[in-house]
Amino acid sequence: MKKIAVLTSGGDAPGMNAAIRAVVRTGLVKGFEVYGVKNGFSGLLAGNFVNLGPRDVGGIMQRGGTVLGSARCSDFKMLAGQKKALRNLNSMDIEGLIVIGGNGSQTGSFRLSELGFPVVGVASTIDNDLYGSEITIGVDTALNIALEAVDRLKITASSHQRAFLLEVMGRNCGYLALMTALAGGAEAVIIPEVPTQPEEIADKIEEAYEKGKAHAIVIVAEGAEYNAEKLSNYFKDHEDTIGFDLRVAILGHIQRGGSPSAYDRILASRLGSGAVDAMASGLYGVLTGWIQSKVTYTPLSEVVSKQKTLDKSLIELASILD
Ligand code: F6P
Repeated sequence: MKKIAVLTSGGDAPGMNAAIRAVVRTGLVKGFEVYGVKNGFSGLLAGNFVNLGPRDVGGIMQRGGTVLGSARCSDFKMLAGQKKALRNLNSMDIEGLIVIGGNGSQTGSFRLSELGFPVVGVASTIDNDLYGSEITIGVDTALNIALEAVDRLKITASSHQRAFLLEVMGRNCGYLALMTALAGGAEAVIIPEVPTQPEEIADKIEEAYEKGKAHAIVIVAEGAEYNAEKLSNYFKDHEDTIGFDLRVAILGHIQRGGSPSAYDRILASRLGSGAVDAMASGLYGVLTGWIQSKVTYTPLSEVVSKQKTLDKSLIELASILD
């Protein structure tokens, strides 16, 4: 195998650039010619390839986002789109593809790999919902951004004796919300994995008020049945019972846009380089992840069919410490 390509797909995650850099530089050391595909799977369909040398990936490690661009590509979900992508890869004589991304992206990897093309995935999403990696690229940075938001909210909340609902991302997974609540010392957390009624949250806020706390912070996962908007509507109707004045903050894409933490840069470097090692040794159709402090390879068939679960002991810990 001589030529390989790399793309980033789905929601960008801080650390993707460090992964691209590791793929390019490890690839060159191992004798590959490396191409970047612009804008994820859409770039594969458009035949948008750029040759990457070692200097092309200089100075990108500290930047959030992805220098290759990313996209959510509905055409690639169809067999016709996947076949077109294969034709474009073949016309460039590219013999292997590395896909840096989360769940949807690795489903795309699996589809290409089912069609017989050598693909290796790299676990990257701020949601940390990908089977086959205990932690994914971008999570640590996103968590730290959310945590900074909590610390800042606490300051203003205490000054005004207010309660805040802070909604964080995570799609259908409560990992980011749970960890933000644990690290930020929140009064309550609402995640999709633990169905929670608004009355229970009202009780917790009221409890904080009665304990004489100066504020109450509730972290809400965007994927929870009662997200920030629904909860806020509920509280508008019950504002006299919770003691505090209530405000809502939705962090949204702010948490994806940070400069990657040291942890994410190192994780991304190890996984990106590990993906090239897999390619070089003829190991395809796998996700490069991080399990028990080691680079691991999990078959993409497992990654797309199994669900990662939240550690129950962390859920318990959050309820003890709130
Ligand atoms: O998967 C990463 C993520 O940031 C999710 O947490 C969020 O639900 C989604 O992407 C947002 O997608 P988009 O950037 O396409 O709006």
